[in-house]
Order: sequence, then structure tokens, then C-alpha cells
Amino acid sequence: MTDGSRSLARKLFIKTYGCQMNVYDSARMAEVLAPLGYVPGDSPKDADMVILNTCHIREKASEKVYSELGRMRVIKEARAEEGGRMVIAVAGCVAQAEGEEMLRRAPFVDMVLGPQTYHRLPEMVARVHRAGHEGGVLDTDFPVESKFDHMPAARSGSAVSAFLSIQEGCDKFCTFCVVPYTRGAEYSRPVAQVMDEARSLVAGGVRELTLLGQNVNAYHGLDADGREIGLGALARQLAQIDSLARIRYTTSHPRDVNAELIAAHGEVRELMPYLHLPVQSGSDRILEAMNRGHDAARYLRIVEDLRAARPDLALSCDFIVGFPGETEADFEATLDLVRTVGYAHSYTFKYSARPGTPAAALPGQVAEEVKDERLARLQDLINEQQAAFNAASVGTSCEVLFERAGRHPGQLVGRSPHNQAVHVDAPRHTIGDIAVVIIETCKPHSLEGRLLDRDASKSVAAEEKRLSA
Ligand code: 5AD
Ligand code: SF4
Repeated sequence: MTDGSRSLARKLFIKTYGCQMNVYDSARMAEVLAPLGYVPGDSPKDADMVILNTCHIREKASEKVYSELGRMRVIKEARAEEGGRMVIAVAGCVAQAEGEEMLRRAPFVDMVLGPQTYHRLPEMVARVHRAGHEGGVLDTDFPVESKFDHMPAARSGSAVSAFLSIQEGCDKFCTFCVVPYTRGAEYSRPVAQVMDEARSLVAGGVRELTLLGQNVNAYHGLDADGREIGLGALARQLAQIDSLARIRYTTSHPRDVNAELIAAHGEVRELMPYLHLPVQSGSDRILEAMNRGHDAARYLRIVEDLRAARPDLALSCDFIVGFPGETEADFEATLDLVRTVGYAHSYTFKYSARPGTPAAALPGQVAEEVKDERLARLQDLINEQQAAFNAASVGTSCEVLFERAGRHPGQLVGRSPHNQAVHVDAPRHTIGDIAVVIIETCKPHSLEGRLLDRDASKSVAAEEKRLSA
């Protein structure tokens, strides 16, 4: 940045709701706006532009956005009284779903843009600032061009672990879900583009990549020879990048777990043994009504095959309780499935009717008290499993990738291969290293361990062999 452009620095505040895809999108929006002089800050006060990057997945999403907008309006008006200007933009899935209606209900909003159009932000900003421009700018297209073709490859900050979006959208149309409507049709980024972005992130110090997509394992990117490759093959290519130590991906769908991906879990050392594989329900009747495209037995077989390939694979899951028509017996089938699989972690949701989705119009909507009661029972079981999973780590050793300084002096926080947060006393300059750590204690949401060896080239197995020699 030249001195001239620095003096033009404008403050940007982005508030992100929802999933990791939105976290990634927010970072990319900041990058797209950087050449215009926007510098991200952590407060809407004094901001020249505020972006609310919204999520529509569950109930009251729009209401929450409108009430946040109310707060932003007050700040915007105060700014105007001081002779300044704050631009308010709403991005993401609520923006996509509300569109024009948002500009009508909240006329002080300057820009409404969907998840597929943020590469056009500079144009929109120019329009908003054009002399004589009145009213808000709306861009909720699903453009023919991909935003990824119109943005620079993501850069890394100082992060050790970074997200990389490889796939977007969804054609599955689960009957409860708004994503196919807000994020649009499935799209996979070309392999070369993904590889370039991965290399640039790794060159900036990233050691771990989490590949993102609403249906990440539906990935079918074109390689240099014009052939389509799946996620398993992509993981193999990414694993070739020197210094890239870890690969994760989320969120996957059971229907798209193929033999190639299962084999990759067995053979690609960089692919971490932790997988988020939502099933939503354990009842075949409900899975059918949800249009998930598989039954409980098929899901269990996939889990078995994955574990055969990678015996230490840990799983996490999403569950919805109280889907229309769910009986006590259906719910018990979900509890049974949870007991059979044994999860390291899970997210549980009460079904919430989303306007425009097929399930919202189904008969047999479940009473709120019944949903609450089922949610609590499922949550108890999940918590029990998570505690058992973490407790089983105590006394074992694992490789920890150090990500940042911990709360206490001299302490670092890293992640185990199973994505557990691990606190360890270790020197600050080892951030970005992988160390072998003996896990000594287990807390509700994290582990504490002791450094065994700081040499990243040594595997746990080698270390254990050395210790036992
Ligand atoms: N009601 C409740 N939970 C939902 N999810 C998606 N849509 C709904 C809904 N209408 C949950 C699913 C999905 C996760 C991201 O959010 O479990 O996997
Ligand atoms: Fe929604 Fe189903 Fe697509 Fe996941 S697979 S984004 S739950 S429609």
C-alpha cells in the first residue's frame, strides 16, 4: 500500500452469521474490498462500511437480521450527524432470500447481495457512492460467471489453519432445507484454481486446509486434461503440496461418499481421521420424508467401510429432531443409530419450518414441547459420547498442530488429528509446528497435554517405538 492509499483507508466491519462457508465468504469480501482501501476492523462504530453476512438455515434468521439492522441504523444516523457516511450492506443467504423486500423494509440499507455476487462488490460500492444515486443496490443474481473466476486467489493472514472453498450450492433438495434455494445449484471449482489457492495459502504459512462446500464430497472439478475428478483424487493432489500437513473437509453427504474417497481416507496420511457426516435421523421413514436418498442401514455401511479403511476415524454428525411426522419410535431409531455409531461430537437441531421448503407444508408438525424433550434426550446421549471420546484420549499420545498462543503465558493451543483443542506449554516460535503430545487431562471442551517431541518429521508411531525401545 502506498502512503497515499493508506491515508484513504476506510474502515470495514463484517459481522458473520452461520456456517464456515460464510466465514470464508466474509474473508473473501474483505479481500475484494481491500484494493478500494477498506481495512477490516472489529467494531461497527466509525466503520465506513458494515456488512452483515447472514445465514438463513434456521428459524427467526430474518428477524435477527432486521433487529441487528435496527442497531446499525442508529450508528449510521449518528455518523451522518457528524457529517460522515456509513454504508450498510447485507450479504449471504437472508439477503438472497429477502432480496427486494429487504430494501423495502429497511430503506437505509445500501446494498443487498447474495452469496454468488460478492465479486461484484466494487461495482456496487461505486454505484452507491455515485453522485445523485438514491435507494439501495440489489444484486441477488445467480450469475453465469463464477465469482471465483473474478477474484484473486485467497491470501493467508498469519493463520496456520485456513478454509478453502471448493464447491458450492446443492442439488439434493432435502425437504427441510433452504440451501438449494439460497445458494443455488451445485458448482465445483476447477482443480487448477483450487490447487493455486492452496499453494498460495501454504506459501503464506498455512499447514492445514479445510475444504469447504455445502456438499463438499459432491466435488467434481475439471482437471488440466478436462477430466472430472472427485474429492478423493483432489485430496491426493493437495497432499503433494510440500508443507501442507493436514487436510479436512466439510460438510459431506452420505450419498456422495464413494469408493475413491473411502480409499483416500485409508491411504492419504494428510487426510485427518475426523469426518463430519450428517445423517439427520435414524428412522428410514423420516429419512425418506426428508429426501435424504439413503436409509439408516446404508449410512451404517458407509461408516463401517470408512472405519475399515481408517480404523481411528472419528465422526461427527448433524441431527434434526421433530421433523413433521416423527413419532417416538422414529426418534428412538435415531438414538439407536447414535449408540451404534458412537460420535466424537454432534450438532442437534429442533426442526424449524422454513417457508418455501416442502417439509413446511407437511402434516404432522411436532409440538414444540415434544421437540424440546427429544432434543434434551438426544443431547444427553451426544454429550455422554463426546465426554467418553475425550476421556479415552487421556494417557495416549497424538500429533498436535499448534495454531496460536493460549490464555496462559507459555501456553499454546493446537488441534489433535481428531480436531480436539489441546493446550500445551510450548515456545511461541513453534506455532505452525506439529509436535507429539501426551494427553494428560480432559476438560469439557478441550484437552491438556505435555510436549514429547517437537520434531514435526517424527510420527507418533516412531515416537512410541523410540519410547518403548
Ligand atoms: N430445521 C432444523 N435444522 C435444520 N438444518 C438445516 N435445515 C434445518 C431446518 N429447517 C440443520 C441440518 C443441517 C445443518 C447445517 O442444519 O441438520 O445438516
Ligand atoms: Fe441442505 Fe440437504 Fe443440501 Fe445439505 S444436502 S445443503 S441439508 S439440501
